[in-house]
Amino acid sequence: MRHLMNPLDFTVEELDKLFDLAQDIEQNPAKYAHACAGKIMATCFYEPSTRTRLSFESAMTRLGGQVIGFSDAASSSAAKGESVSDTIRVISCYADICAMRHPKEGAPMVAAEKATIPVINAGDGGHQHPTQTLTDLLTIRSLSGDIKNFTIGLCGDLKFGRTVHSLINALVRYEGINFIFISPEELRIPDYITDMLKEKDIPFREVMSLENVMPELDFLYMTRVQKERFFNEEDYIRLKDFYILDTTKMALAKEDMLVLHPLPRVNEISVEVDNDPRAAYFKQAQYGVYVRMALILTLLNITVG
Ligand code: CP
Repeated sequence: MRHLMNPLDFTVEELDKLFDLAQDIEQNPAKYAHACAGKIMATCFYEPSTRTRLSFESAMTRLGGQVIGFSDAASSSAAKGESVSDTIRVISCYADICAMRHPKEGAPMVAAEKATIPVINAGDGGHQHPTQTLTDLLTIRSLSGDIKNFTIGLCGDLKFGRTVHSLINALVRYEGINFIFISPEELRIPDYITDMLKEKDIPFREVMSLENVMPELDFLYMTRVQKERFFNEEDYIRLKDFYILDTTKMALAKEDMLVLHPLPRVNEISVEVDNDPRAAYFKQAQYGVYVRMALILTLLNITVG
C-alpha cells in the first residue's frame, strides 16, 4: 500500500508514467469511465477548498467510483475532539482511499501511519501540497512538451505558500531549471529552500520587482498572499496587493510565456489578463482532474487495458 505525502514520494520515472496515464485519460475518457466501479473515496477536509476537494470528487466520479466525506472540520467529529488517528481508522472501514487536507503540518502523515487505505495529502498547513504540484508539472509538460530547460518566476507569498514549496522541491529533479523568486522582503522564500538550491548548485535569484524580470521568464507562477496564514491583519493589508499582474506587465513578457496560478486568486492577477492566450491557470485546474484520476488509479493499483 502506498500513500502520497510529498511529490518526492514518486521518482521522476514514476511521475512520467503518471503523466502519460493522465494524458491518456484526457484523450480517452470513456476507457476509464468504470475503472473505479465499486470503490469509494473519502475526502476529509479540515480546511476550506474548492479545487482540490471538488477535483478529487470529480476525478473519482469520472472513474465510476463514489465519494463520501466532509468539507469542514466543524461538521465532523473533530469538533468533539476526535484525533486524526482515530478518524482515519474509522474512515479506513468506510472507504478504499482518502484525500485529507489539514491546517496542521504533518497531519496527513499521522493519518497515513494509522490508515489501512492509501492516504493522499491534499495540503497540510504551509508545508506541502503534492497534488497541486502534480497538476503544475502536468500543465507544464502538456503545454510546453517537456519539463526541462526553462526559467520560472515564482511570485507573491513565497514564505507561507505550500504550493511553491512543493513545486520547487519537485522541479529541482529536472534538468536546466532556473528559479527567480519574486517577493516582498517579509514573504521571502524560506532559507531551508535556498540552502537546498545552493547545495545542489541550482541557479536562483531573489528579487522584488516583477517588471524587471518579466522578459526573462518562460513561466510565471503567481500566488495569493494568504490571509489565513498571517498572525497580524495589518501586515496582511499592507502586503496583499504588493503584486498585481495586469496587461501592462504582460506586455513585457515573452510571446510564449505562460502564466500559472494554483488559484484561488484574489487581486494578484487582474481579470483582464484572463483573455490573454498566455493565461494558463484555468487549463491548469482542468489538468488537476486528469492527474488526480491517474493518481487514484495508481494508488489503488488499477490498470485499464
Ligand atoms: N489550488 C488549491 O489548492 O485550491 P483550493 O484551496 O480551492 O483547493
